[in-house]
Amino acid sequence: MPTMYEIYEKHAVNYDELVTAEDYQDNLGKYLREKIEWRDKTVYEAGIGTGRITNYYISEVSHCFGFDREEHMMQKCLKNHVKNTDKLTLNIAENLGLPKLDRNIDVFIEGWSFGHTLYQNTDDLSSVISKLVDSVIELVSSDGDIFIIESLGTNVEKPIYYSDEAESLYDKLENKYKFERTTLETDYRYDNPKEASRIMGFFFGEEMKLDIFKKNKSIVKEFTGAWYLKKK
Ligand SMILES: C[S@@+](CC[C@H](N)C(=O)[O-])C[C@H]1O[C@@H](n2cnc3c(N)ncnc32)[C@H](O)[C@@H]1O
Repeated sequence: MPTMYEIYEKHAVNYDELVTAEDYQDNLGKYLREKIEWRDKTVYEAGIGTGRITNYYISEVSHCFGFDREEHMMQKCLKNHVKNTDKLTLNIAENLGLPKLDRNIDVFIEGWSFGHTLYQNTDDLSSVISKLVDSVIELVSSDGDIFIIESLGTNVEKPIYYSDEAESLYDKLENKYKFERTTLETDYRYDNPKEASRIMGFFFGEEMKLDIFKKNKSIVKEFTGAWYLKKK
């Protein structure tokens, strides 16, 4: 079974199969649409992957500048958004080196990518979190909107902090930077438990694969935190 990083380097199609089944109740979509007006906005998306979050807003916005450190993921993103390639500019960038663009950015969004950056930099966690969040605040215009979307647990019955690193990020977002947190259910739905077990197991590992299979689940629960800040 490949590691998560090997999946991002070589298995974007399998990754996309996973996230296509995510949030079948459209709770994250409803939240994003209710929170701000997306029409004609210029969006900056970090860790864009195969463009799943991009789905929620691309038809409305004027342009999306998307970044990821894996070209392979962004190639799949372009295929997924073939109808909107005129609105999509994709480039390679590390989350800790996100380029500042010479134009107004109305909205910054990232989903499930900053969490990886924390694991890649555990020695210096506190300064990495500050660097990430400060750089994002600097990227957006003076009244811009910022969304940071991260995990509160997959295949769990209630929201959890799945790691100390994640808890540190969420704590700093809420208590230092005053982001508002919303907890959402973003459950996955598959045709049958065999599909659920195969697809979820490919990404999350053997333990989750067996658990889903043993418990005969075709719906797999997930909790997601959306942290929002309006820059003023
Ligand atoms: C879990 S996926 C999320 C992708 C997409 N946002 C979504 O919601 O499906 C994580 C993404 O972050 C990217 N990534 C991981 N570490 C990164 C880093 N340090 N800098 C930039 N991108 C990174 C991966 O290549 C992958 O595309």
